[in-house]
Amino acid sequence: MADESVEKKDESAEGADAAAEQKEEAAEVTSEEAAPVAVDVPAETVTPDIGFVKDVINSGGADLKKCYQCATCSVVCNLTPDDNPFPRKEMQWAQWGLKDKLMGSPDIWLCHQCSDCVAQCPRDAKPGKVLQAVAKMTISNYSIGGVTKALGNIGGTILMAIIPIAVILIAIAVQGNFSGIPRPGGEIVYSEFMDIYRVIDPLFTIAAIFAVIMFIVGGRKYWKDMMTRYQAAGGKVPAKGFFANLGPTLSELMAHKRFRECDETKDRANAHLLVFYAFLGLALTTAWAVLYIDFLHIESPFALSNPIKWLGNISAAAGIIGITMVIIYRFVHSEKLGMGSYFDWLLILTILLILASGIGAEMLRLADLAPAAYIVYAIHLMSILFLFIYAPFSKMAHMVYRLVALVFARATGRDVGVGV
Ligand code: HEM
Ligand code: SF4
Ligand code: SF4
Repeated sequence: MADESVEKKDESAEGADAAAEQKEEAAEVTSEEAAPVAVDVPAETVTPDIGFVKDVINSGGADLKKCYQCATCSVVCNLTPDDNPFPRKEMQWAQWGLKDKLMGSPDIWLCHQCSDCVAQCPRDAKPGKVLQAVAKMTISNYSIGGVTKALGNIGGTILMAIIPIAVILIAIAVQGNFSGIPRPGGEIVYSEFMDIYRVIDPLFTIAAIFAVIMFIVGGRKYWKDMMTRYQAAGGKVPAKGFFANLGPTLSELMAHKRFRECDETKDRANAHLLVFYAFLGLALTTAWAVLYIDFLHIESPFALSNPIKWLGNISAAAGIIGITMVIIYRFVHSEKLGMGSYFDWLLILTILLILASGIGAEMLRLADLAPAAYIVYAIHLMSILFLFIYAPFSKMAHMVYRLVALVFARATGRDVGVGV
């Protein structure tokens, strides 16, 4: 694959030479033979948004201005469609501060951050990182910008974390658990510490509904912006809309085919696959627990032999392995590709905290170690609440914007040329 990239790069250099020759020929014709001809080229007025350029630079696209538009990046990218490829044009739009074009573009999220273009760019302009910076700005653009900005640095994150921490501490206080921890029958029982019907169910349902509403609002607006731009450029209204294209897109996602198209960081696909399936497994475990507790009135904790425990424990183990691989690969590729932004690390560490505290709470309960078990359980609830409330503003939102962009690409035929 690396050889192919070099070949492609040579082709691009040859292409550039050919273009230069054509240009020279054209210049000769113009000066010696041709009479002036009026050409009706529609003019586009460009209004650069300097503030936006600065934001891209400050959000991780620091080398943006080094780009001299050679297009090597678009040639080496395995994920770009042949027609109107990325990321060269995005580099130009970002240099010119064309915020509207970038915000309503599916290509920002079709990029999988494999960094093949970063490794091959002759100017070290790091196009993949510029796209990543713009993706973060998309999240901010379609949600509440101030919150996304706060989640981009440690001070802001601490400030934001006060809400979930305070909510869980208040819930513990209201149930009187600061004055003595529950020990029914001499055992550790989490439902006695944090009431499922009066605390857990309403709290997490409200947080989940909030996140879903924010995602629907942001995702719909993103879809609308992409469609408006697509139609303005002459694209026809797709025969099948979002929901008709959702199924095939999800089945493509299950195998992570696109991730595997990357050359430089192909190994990240397996790490992501594990985290992704762990997330689905834990979501299913939660739904199953709701069925048991809220509808069938079966009391927790469940026996280790219960299938719900198998699913939960296998998913948590897959998640821990996956997120550890994510971290290891970040270090392995750091010399070539950098360590990634604070925004990325916040998601990775939040997932790690949720999984580690979940497994820790179970092990401490089985080892009958109170009050440590209750403390770790409280941290587990705080970290899940943090993930839920801030999902639409943090990197967690990538799952929604990427999905919407992938569905849009399928609906409009933008996928032609990608081997999926
Ligand atoms: C629609 C579903 C999803 C898609 C299409 C998707 C796609 C991607 C892609 C392409 C990346 C690499 C680029 C980047 O760092 O932004 C990534 C990173 C990541 N995703 Fe997802 N994702 C999805 C859902 C999820 C879910 C459900 C989780 C887990 C809660 C998750 C966790 C992560 C993590 C931790 C990273 C960072 C990986 C790294 O640094 O190598 N993703 N995702
Ligand atoms: S980002 Fe690099 S490879 Fe891409 S067009 Fe600019 S200089 Fe060329
Ligand atoms: S980071 Fe990878 S997917 Fe994204 S533009 Fe560069 S080569 Fe293409």
